[in-house]
Amino acid sequence: MSMQASILQGKQYILDTYSQVPVVFSSGQGMYLVDEEGDRYLDFVGGIAVNALGYHDPGLTKAIEGVLERGLLHCSNLYYNSEAVAAAKALCQLGGMDRVFFCNSGAEANEAALKLARKFGHQSSPVRSGIISMVHSFHGRTYGAITATGQEKYHKNFDPLPQGFSYAQFNDLASVEALVKDDTCAIIVEPVQGEGGIIPADPQFLAGLRTLCDAHNLLLIYDEVQCGMGRSGKPFAYQAYGVKPDVLTTAKALAGGIPAGAMLTCGKANQIFAPGDHASTFGGNALAMAGVNEMVRRLGNPAFTDHVQQMGEYLRSKLAELVVAYPKLCTAVRGLGLINGLVLTIPPRTIVDACFEQGLLVASAGYDVLRFVPPLVVERKDIDQAIEIVRKALASLA
Ligand SMILES: Cc1ncc(COP(=O)(O)O)c(C=O)c1O
Repeated sequence: MSMQASILQGKQYILDTYSQVPVVFSSGQGMYLVDEEGDRYLDFVGGIAVNALGYHDPGLTKAIEGVLERGLLHCSNLYYNSEAVAAAKALCQLGGMDRVFFCNSGAEANEAALKLARKFGHQSSPVRSGIISMVHSFHGRTYGAITATGQEKYHKNFDPLPQGFSYAQFNDLASVEALVKDDTCAIIVEPVQGEGGIIPADPQFLAGLRTLCDAHNLLLIYDEVQCGMGRSGKPFAYQAYGVKPDVLTTAKALAGGIPAGAMLTCGKANQIFAPGDHASTFGGNALAMAGVNEMVRRLGNPAFTDHVQQMGEYLRSKLAELVVAYPKLCTAVRGLGLINGLVLTIPPRTIVDACFEQGLLVASAGYDVLRFVPPLVVERKDIDQAIEIVRKALASLA
């Protein structure tokens, strides 16, 4: 079947929830995806911050093969499985957290955190259910997660939404303080806003949230679904900030490309859930947990996270050169580690499409940002190549 025929079948059978680029990928190697016609694309999307180890990583492949050879793909959470127990311990130790609930995606991890927050609130009063989130945040597409998401466009047409959510301005502590009421139980925030436009939190903002949560006995929840698992240049972004949450959610790169999500807890969040409060059939699935174990093993090596920091600095320095060269088209560079954005004055899709034509995958974020979330194994030569393609795309529009 030709690639064109595959695209037509995709259009016919897959519901229209994405405006998909007309390409069908069938294999991958390192930093590259290969389409059905054999064309290679340098990948600075990485499955949107999922494929941290790139494609066809030998360590990840071996970990998955190990599970397949032992024949235990899945077993119910009515029992423990050895991959999940090992992953729970390793992930908690890597993240400086105490306990974990495993699920399958970022939205699910956040649903778990929202439920945990409300049960925490109810322990002191039945009215304590209010959750404060941030404008321009993104927390996923399930009902609780879209409601926590502080962007109107994700709510439209899906009301009625769950009640009890309010929205503060990101990086504006006074606006959060103004929303804290007697019925508030938690604050949820991304240390680096991803979908909203790659906006890192100010360190004093997170420190202020921590103080506020301690003063009012609120849970501080970090959504590290996109910025966690090494992307910040530390295993978790909070470790780059030095301000610890009570609850941390992660997914995307958690299992290196196998679907997995997790909610980690510490301190006062450890003992809230009891048997029956929450569950997920596939959470802790042995195949996914083999991926988690391999990711944690890799992130536990400081050379790996140092590499992320170095490549992030290099990428930002190259993007800054583009801002100097094309000030009418791009105005700023934002980011941390290998989650970075180039702020544009034109719709990002124009550049995304032009780069695609030249064999580079990049994505947009927010309404004016070109997003760079490559595999964490990216090298200087890949960055040079990507920047050259973006430069050409900008030059063609200048
Ligand atoms: C910060 C953040 N939280 C949650 C989600 C939702 O994750 P998932 O698509 O795995 O449900 C995303 C996805 O982009 C995200 O970036």
